Amino acid sequence: MQPQTHAQTASRSSQITGAQLVRREYRRYLTEPIDPRDPRIAAWRDALATDGCAVLREFLDPDALARAERECASIAHLAYANERYTNCYDTHDDPSLPDDHPIRLFMKRTQAFVARDRIPESFVIHELYKLDGFRALIAACLGEEHIYEYDDPFGALVVNVLEPGTTHPWHYDATEFVVSMMTRQPDGGGIFEYCPGIRSEGNENEHAVSRVIRGVDRQPIKQLDLRPGDLQLFKGRFSLHRVTPVEGSNSRHTVIFSYAKTPGMVGKSKRAKTLFGRVADVHREADGKAHDDELID
Ligand SMILES: [Fe+2]
Repeated sequence: MQPQTHAQTASRSSQITGAQLVRREYRRYLTEPIDPRDPRIAAWRDALATDGCAVLREFLDPDALARAERECASIAHLAYANERYTNCYDTHDDPSLPDDHPIRLFMKRTQAFVARDRIPESFVIHELYKLDGFRALIAACLGEEHIYEYDDPFGALVVNVLEPGTTHPWHYDATEFVVSMMTRQPDGGGIFEYCPGIRSEGNENEHAVSRVIRGVDRQPIKQLDLRPGDLQLFKGRFSLHRVTPVEGSNSRHTVIFSYAKTPGMVGKSKRAKTLFGRVADVHREADGKAHDDELID
């Protein structure tokens, strides 16, 4: 065995300490090399391939979950909130189309995100985000060799706050995958609903999509019974999805962990301004570059 440097030993011990944040049954995935043939890894990978959705149930250790709930609630007021009307494609209206075409169906969307630079590094969700083992586990579930931290100082890690009465209406994600975890469940509503593979490359299936959005047909819809502390991996490019209106007096808090397939990815200033109401130098620098990430949805 190669002798380890002090830094390597310290890093290894912080990884092991970090792994205590998750339930015992998940810890080895965060601390040891992952065998892609491991039956649970294979099951999550299959669920993502067939259903576009995998849930690692009760992922957080109960103490860490209680802490995460408290911590996220303590910064929820720092969310930058705005409201707009959008269709499921997030495009402009096209009056030349029939009234019931999905492009013409606009819904009120409330966005409220607490940016990464407002989330203390000591918080459970921030510690988790920085763990190499956590990233390795997500990569294994996605069937990827490596994924990287999103380099965006605002968007890499966010807390999404849905206040009572607000909703995240039907939409598709622009990103390939989303990793999220609810830390606070509302009294009612706030349910994640999705239509697996309702559209595909080259087939928008507008008629079926319109019927779902207009509430005429619930047959394609699956509801996910998500609980605080469950880790959800979701591929939302082809699966229309939404969060139903939040009811009662509690807000719904969800953490979104963003990753990229290449290192050094940063959002552009227009996106930072829309999502967070402000822009950093790195976003202005990214404006001159070719890529256009859409890592939060
Ligand atoms: Fe989404």
